[in-house]
Amino acid sequence: MWLNRFALTNFRTYVRLGLELPQGLVVFHGANGQGKTNLLEAVYMLATTKSPRASSDRELINWLALDQAQPFARIAASVHRGASELHVDLTLRAEINPTGNGAHGLTLSKQVRVGGLPQRAIEYVGTVIAVLFSPEDVGLVSGPPAGRRRYLDITLSQVNSRYLRALQRYTKIVAQRNHLLRQVRERRQPLGLLEPWDAELVRSGSYIIEERTRLLATLNGHLTELFRALSGSRARLEVAYRSSVDGASAEEPVEHAVVRESGTPWRDSPAATLPNLAGLAERFARCLSVGRERELAQGVSLVGPHRDDLVFLLDDVPLGTYGSRGQQRLAVLALKLAEVDFMRAETGERPLLLLDDVLSELDPARQAFVLQTLGTEGQTLLTTTDLGGFDASFLARARVYRIEDGTIHAAA
Ligand SMILES: Nc1ncnc2c1ncn2[C@@H]1O[C@H](COP(=O)(O)OP(=O)(O)OP(=O)(O)O)[C@@H](O)[C@H]1O
Ligand SMILES: [Mg+2]
Repeated sequence: MWLNRFALTNFRTYVRLGLELPQGLVVFHGANGQGKTNLLEAVYMLATTKSPRASSDRELINWLALDQAQPFARIAASVHRGASELHVDLTLRAEINPTGNGAHGLTLSKQVRVGGLPQRAIEYVGTVIAVLFSPEDVGLVSGPPAGRRRYLDITLSQVNSRYLRALQRYTKIVAQRNHLLRQVRERRQPLGLLEPWDAELVRSGSYIIEERTRLLATLNGHLTELFRALSGSRARLEVAYRSSVDGASAEEPVEHAVVRESGTPWRDSPAATLPNLAGLAERFARCLSVGRERELAQGVSLVGPHRDDLVFLLDDVPLGTYGSRGQQRLAVLALKLAEVDFMRAETGERPLLLLDDVLSELDPARQAFVLQTLGTEGQTLLTTTDLGGFDASFLARARVYRIEDGTIHAAA
């Protein structure tokens, strides 16, 4: 898959941008704060409909445009997918509503269209598929579990619409079940009302865990090889799923970095890398009945994919706890490259690969390895502050653009 035309209107620094892009490798270079990440953010939004970094969509609309009567921002592209070319666009609109006493608020709406026809986000996601790697992604290894769950959900939602539907359903079930748990606790509803919610939770939740497990199994098939090539080490890299369904007997969340008395780090047994899927739904249901009192006491659902996690293991040692920053970064790069393979295998299309300021630190041999892994199909959009960080042979294969203050020029 690749974008051949790309246009922005009022998106962050870009008041108006029109770009023709080639297939293959495209490098955008520019000083700090010139709009490199903004550009990749816009491309990524065409895939997921969500910004990977904005806390509110309002931030995405160019500041000057916000003063206009009907502020909007638009991202549009022509996408080559298989033998077809699609025109997709995403528009954010801000309605200004007076709130009385002279002040006003903003209501935002978002619309996606394919070939000019509006689509619901749930149908649209998957039209453009992308993998993004930015410096903040090191947090995937060492940060809180919610980021890792989001990573799994975004990856799977792009290639499997049933997953996205199950996830939306599951999220609603958890919210409604939590509400009911509190009502039962306060004796305003009978305990029996929980039963159908338990069944629904188990049904959607088991599917989500199964699909995540399948994803990790595929990623694990590539990770060690990629990590070895990137790091030059002999270590074995794996991602292991930690399900609350199997950890539910423990009173506390699973602690991955228990240090034994002997002083050696606790090691995961390799067999525990993936959960046992046989009888998953039964075990899930059993956890709910065994944990009923605790859930009622706390008024929240304590078991299910919304409480699961994954852990990066380097030779069975948790990388989030013991790994160096550099090892963690290479592990995430390996993960993202493996993800490209996963998405290609699932959809038959190589996803767009967006590398934000992350390759120039690799030495030329490793840059060449990344290039070779990516092959010649598809499209890779890469940003850097320093072209000098790239080998001449690398740049010779790329189209290079310079970004300056929200405008983009072909480099001389
Ligand atoms: N809604 C907006 N309207 C106008 N400008 C914005 C808006 N949102 C962000 N900016 C500006 O965009 C710039 C940041 O752009 P971006 O994050 O793309 O920089 P960058 O080129 O990736 O820089 P770095 O190399 O530091 O990562 C900032 O100067 C910020 O003020
Ligand atoms: Mg940036």
